Amino acid sequence: MTQTIPHDIEDAAPAAQSGASAKKVFVKTYGCQMNVYDSERMGDALTRDGYQPVDSVEAADLVLINTCHIREKAAEKVYSQLGRLAKLKQQRNEEGGDLMVAVAGCVAQAEGQEIIRRAPVVDVVIGPQTYHRLPDALERARAGESVVETEFPAEDKFDRLPAAAAAAIRGRGVSAFLTVQEGCDKFCTFCVVPYTRGAEVSRPVGKILQEAERLAQAGVREITLLGQNVNAWHGEGGDGREWGLGELVRRLAKIEGLDRIRYTTSHPRDMDDALIEAHRDLPQLMPYLHLPVQSGSDRILKAMNRRHTAEDYIRLVEKIRKARPDIALSGDFIVGFPGETDADFQDTLRLIRDVEYAAAFSFKYSIRPGTPGAGMDGQVDEAVKSARLAELQALISEQTRAFGRGCIGRTVDLLLEKSGRNTGQLVGRSPWLQPVIVDAKAGQIGDIVSVRIMQTGTNSLFAEPVGANGDQPRSEIV
Ligand code: 5AD
Ligand code: SF4
Repeated sequence: MTQTIPHDIEDAAPAAQSGASAKKVFVKTYGCQMNVYDSERMGDALTRDGYQPVDSVEAADLVLINTCHIREKAAEKVYSQLGRLAKLKQQRNEEGGDLMVAVAGCVAQAEGQEIIRRAPVVDVVIGPQTYHRLPDALERARAGESVVETEFPAEDKFDRLPAAAAAAIRGRGVSAFLTVQEGCDKFCTFCVVPYTRGAEVSRPVGKILQEAERLAQAGVREITLLGQNVNAWHGEGGDGREWGLGELVRRLAKIEGLDRIRYTTSHPRDMDDALIEAHRDLPQLMPYLHLPVQSGSDRILKAMNRRHTAEDYIRLVEKIRKARPDIALSGDFIVGFPGETDADFQDTLRLIRDVEYAAAFSFKYSIRPGTPGAGMDGQVDEAVKSARLAELQALISEQTRAFGRGCIGRTVDLLLEKSGRNTGQLVGRSPWLQPVIVDAKAGQIGDIVSVRIMQTGTNSLFAEPVGANGDQPRSEIV
């Protein structure tokens, strides 16, 4: 296949056209943060190819849908969207115009050709490992071909996708994602990721540092390192030794201007001592850890192929909290995995009570075709799943509220990210990822300010600024 993007694209001049002649692309992203990052990278490639981003389907010549396959509901959303697009395309054709539709992401990878069979409106199906071929695929589709690109090629897409221009980075705000690892070799029995994203691959240190430096130079103050198994990241370090994520974070913390580092998502088995020590030592590494456990029952953990027990997880949490006492934990939970009894579910609730989470995401088990869980006996009734989910979510909500209440009266650093709903207010993030609303000027976006948490709201906290000496709340501002 011919490549339209050269290797050394990074510093090539952008080819974006302006004005009415530019082709217009609307990108719709479903799913996880990695899809958000991938959409940005594809958007950057399309901008270089002459496209202008627009924010509605109606204004677009090309609609790119980046899809998620993790649960059935997420995957089905794509088809209802494609139904609407088919109508729009027909209308355009009647008016003598056209509309191109490309489906990217994990549904594209999992279903390939089947998407075009079910939804002939689609011109291009492109899996997560072939995004660098998107401009070429669109070119072929324009010539009348239905393009399906879903192999796992040997070349690295990141080497071939153009880096964002500084202006594009600035437009995305002061907090940015950076993919460092992709794919998974763990094969939890409920999960499609090893099939849709492929085997675990770590990006090399040099590339990660280069991208992080670019982000910092463009004004980014916080990066979130992304990977399906981010703490399994490994690579050859600058010192010739093999590094894990802990060493990588230590090196990233030296980059001027990068004041906050986060990472997600971690597997308990890859939480090694070097990473825990990084939490102990580095003020830049935020005291927040998303550490999914999925279930608190050893029987279910085994059936899920998680390869650790509930006790292992609790001991690990204790160790992490010893190193960084103010760390907040979040998790993922699945209720109604095949064979889950009420006693298993009670074990999960007990683990949640033991750990005390600041936040958590919870889901009803969803059968994913091709995974071992799909063929297991003891599929749980939908009504039972719903009841368990409601009970689990009530417990987690109470813990989240308690965590918020525990912040009242504390002085914390806030990274101011965007305007609030009311003029004169900005929204920032606490070190524990909570959105916090405070009175501040628009020019302060990107500043890290000291605030005192005063009150909790439904989804955010309210704070007042703290004077330069750190202990003088200017109460007239609130
Ligand atoms: N059913 C329900 N939840 C799932 N997850 C992954 N696969 C499934 C599935 N088949 C959840 C897990 C994972 C999160 C990203 O999605 O909790 O950590
Ligand atoms: Fe899926 Fe398990 Fe891999 Fe996470 S660790 S991506 S849940 S297979």
